[in-house]
Amino acid sequence: MKHIDMTPYHPYRKMGTSCDTREIPDKKITWPRIDHIDSDNPDFRLRAITRNDVEAVAELWRISYPEVYGSVHGWILDPDEYLERVAFAENWDDHAVSRPHAVMLGEDLAKDKIVMSSIYTKWDLNLHVEASFIAIHPDARKGRIGASIWSNLAGFYQWLEGSGAEYVTVFCETWHNITQYIWFKRMGWKIAGIFPGNYTRWAGNNKEYRTCTVHFYRLLNNGGSITTKPEEWDLLPEVRELWDCLEKINAGSEEAGF
Ligand SMILES: CC(C)(COP(=O)(O)OP(=O)(O)OC[C@H]1O[C@@H](n2cnc3c(N)ncnc32)[C@H](O)[C@@H]1OP(=O)(O)O)[C@@H](O)C(=O)NCCC(=O)NCCS
Repeated sequence: MKHIDMTPYHPYRKMGTSCDTREIPDKKITWPRIDHIDSDNPDFRLRAITRNDVEAVAELWRISYPEVYGSVHGWILDPDEYLERVAFAENWDDHAVSRPHAVMLGEDLAKDKIVMSSIYTKWDLNLHVEASFIAIHPDARKGRIGASIWSNLAGFYQWLEGSGAEYVTVFCETWHNITQYIWFKRMGWKIAGIFPGNYTRWAGNNKEYRTCTVHFYRLLNNGGSITTKPEEWDLLPEVRELWDCLEKINAGSEEAGF
């Protein structure tokens, strides 16, 4: 972070009275290395992307998540776009720090095929990781490989914690509610809000529409202790009512696992 002399300035009002504050640290997210074979299923490997995978991974997204075509997320469909953006296993020590996206793959070793891809995005100065995308190849959604994919996702929370992130988010699409269910009922994340019209999405041919996404969050590491509490938020009565309602609903979030 570039130093600016801020001594002549001050915040709008004193905040951070309901939580801890800290000296601004050197904030960095480091993608943790991942490469393991499922102990219950030796045919399933979870690992970071390599340069050799980019064609197959982009094709997996085109088959499973074509809706991002033409949107800010459309880069995931184009293998060339990966080269400067994602952390590659071959350059892990450097890329784990310098690259904004990590791509975790699920591989069916018996079929020598990538069956799952998930993409994460980081913002170092916000100690924030977004679980941006997940897709399972349509042929792998049921059966033994499908089960291994979900059981390995259970370790995902520790993986995020190991990155140094203190705020993690995910947005779920609304053409099904499977991921909303997984993050709310199985991973224990809280609903942050519903965002109508948030992203453009492909409707087939050359058509598009604006979609609604549901956003979830979780605070990790020291995130909770330095987060302001509702008592110091200045909210309109209507917004306070919405918050109370959200809290009531979020009390039903469960970490049931897979
Ligand atoms: C989203 C995706 C990864 C889900 O994988 P899937 O194999 O189709 O998921 P399933 O329908 O088997 O659901 C997973 C589990 O959650 C359960 N589940 C899902 N939604 C549920 C709900 N609303 N209520 C109760 N259980 C639910 C399923 O029953 C299943 O549990 P089980 O294995 O114990 O039977 C996959 O469909 C995919 O790749 N889709 C295309 C890309 C995409 O939409 N990505 C996510 C965008 S937010």
